[in-house]
Amino acid sequence: MVVVNIPMTDLNGQYQSIKSEIDSAISRVLQHSQFILGQEVKTFEKQMAAYCGTKFAVGVASGTDALHLALLACGVGEGDEVITTPFTFIATSEAIVNCGAKPVFADIDPRTCNIDPERIGPLVTHRTKAVIPVHLYGQPADLDPILAVAREHKLKVIEDCAQALGAEYEAKKVGSLGDAGCLSFFPAKNLGAYGDGGMVVTDNPDVAEKVDMLRRHGAKGTYYHGLRGFNSRLDALQAAVLSVKLKHLDKWNDMRRRNAALYDSLLGQVDGIKLTRVEGHNKPSCNYYTIRLSGTRLSRDELRTHLESQGIQTMVYYPLSLHLQEVYKYLGYNPGDFPESERAQGEVLSLPMYPELNEEQIEEIVNHILTDVEQVVG
Ligand SMILES: Cc1ncc(COP(=O)(O)O)c(C=O)c1O
Repeated sequence: MVVVNIPMTDLNGQYQSIKSEIDSAISRVLQHSQFILGQEVKTFEKQMAAYCGTKFAVGVASGTDALHLALLACGVGEGDEVITTPFTFIATSEAIVNCGAKPVFADIDPRTCNIDPERIGPLVTHRTKAVIPVHLYGQPADLDPILAVAREHKLKVIEDCAQALGAEYEAKKVGSLGDAGCLSFFPAKNLGAYGDGGMVVTDNPDVAEKVDMLRRHGAKGTYYHGLRGFNSRLDALQAAVLSVKLKHLDKWNDMRRRNAALYDSLLGQVDGIKLTRVEGHNKPSCNYYTIRLSGTRLSRDELRTHLESQGIQTMVYYPLSLHLQEVYKYLGYNPGDFPESERAQGEVLSLPMYPELNEEQIEEIVNHILTDVEQVVG
């Protein structure tokens, strides 16, 4: 087979498609030279609150900071416990630890790779303050039962929407259902900046005010400090870029969903390949397109190596569950504690996914996968 060149994502291709809009937004910021917070950030925050269907949106320096500051603003601190999934990027649990709190993991639902709501209740103690559902790969976590268990135990729900901007749970934008939604503008996300950036969206004025203070050294007015804060501001250049890109987001997410549907139709019936399931009432953002390989002689890693040699880039999100990470040894978890998460770590494979990916490229990728599966299995 001919070697192709298909990356996981194509940021330059996207830039070229909106170059004149982006260049003029950047030039506008350079002309007015108000680089930190200011009108560009305010305008973008207003647009994002409207987009997410929340009353407030506060721009911060990264998705990691969005989680950290949202947890602090929701009152999470020293000695508290926060329940979350072990099958996520480490930023989720890192934010908990950086508040002085302890991450408590609950295993995932194997169909969606998101936290299993049934496992949350039994983990609640008098120290539990919050739950962080992660909308992994852009698939909404099952929020209704999560919100119900949180209500029952008076826990805050902080949604990790880093991979899910534009995804909907029962026709509502993720991020708007919990006490706070945390967004990442890391370049490869659905709405990517040209650098780092993040945001907290919320309906709660107190949470919005606290996050606003925390990102500006805990200041209430200028040089009057009410909280122990940080320097975590979204910068004006990123806000200007993101404002331009936001106008294209729905179209890009539709293109991602169209690509996911094509992958689904070509891979759905293949023995040994499982799709990550989307519940019917949900709309994913398809930040990543992830399959699972099991029940064949072909391992995930073998397939990955074959595809790589053919010029097709793939990624494994994530190869080691958080409870098994060296840094979390002190939490006292052992192999076998979260069997679904541990199974997923050996089976998941994310394939190239971006709006501009075309039908021929997807067919090419699938043909390589099928040939490889047959070669090894057959
Ligand atoms: C699930 C999840 N949470 C949090 C983050 C952190 O976002 P950032 O890289 O903007 O700090 C990421 C980003 O990779 C993520 O995928």
